[in-house]
Amino acid sequence: MQIYLDTANVKEIQEGANLGLIDGVTTNPSLVAKEGRSFKEMLLEICKMVDGPISAEVVGVESEAMIKEGRDLAKVHKNIVVKVPLIPEGLRATKKLAAEGIRVNVTLCFSPTQALLAAKAGAWCVSPFIGRLDDVSSDGMALIRQIVTIYKNYDYKTQVLVASVRHPQHVVEAALAGGHICTMPYAVFQQLVKHPLTDIGLKKFLADWDAMGKK
Ligand code: E4P
Repeated sequence: MQIYLDTANVKEIQEGANLGLIDGVTTNPSLVAKEGRSFKEMLLEICKMVDGPISAEVVGVESEAMIKEGRDLAKVHKNIVVKVPLIPEGLRATKKLAAEGIRVNVTLCFSPTQALLAAKAGAWCVSPFIGRLDDVSSDGMALIRQIVTIYKNYDYKTQVLVASVRHPQHVVEAALAGGHICTMPYAVFQQLVKHPLTDIGLKKFLADWDAMGKK
């Protein structure tokens, strides 16, 4: 499973990239607004840090505006994936951009029928938001399993990008469900490696080694 960071914060992205395990980055208008800086300048900086797909979202809601923005964003760097919302105008824009060879991440997916339409429109990936579904007492992970099955049944090449991840257990379940990509906040990424028994075990190994040296 590919691991992406879900942030527009370049400090976090650099720290994550230093480990050499980050395959890509997703941003959205809220994450970009939080940083308070030029969008394109930020994208270029991110593209220099991570050599993988970097999602950048359009803010237009009419297909023509989305197509124009999408073409523009795709010109920023070869690794940019254009993110469009899962509304009828977004699907129209996806079809057009995909036909031009621009990779599209269809975002704000909350149902299997939406995901089916995204695949039919030629999306490079679809982003189901599992945390936001869990927040309203729905089963976010059940949606991932449904989409993975539907795409397998018809051999759609669209990848399932598990988004709105809130904790490491979401990552485990995304991998078990066969999600192709999982994007997560940096704090969740940091938690993936941690285990208290690893720390206790290492401390004991080193203490035993030191004690032997003193004999
Ligand atoms: C990623 O592409 C999404 O924009 C993001 O995962 C949304 O996460 P949130 O529900 O925590 O805002």
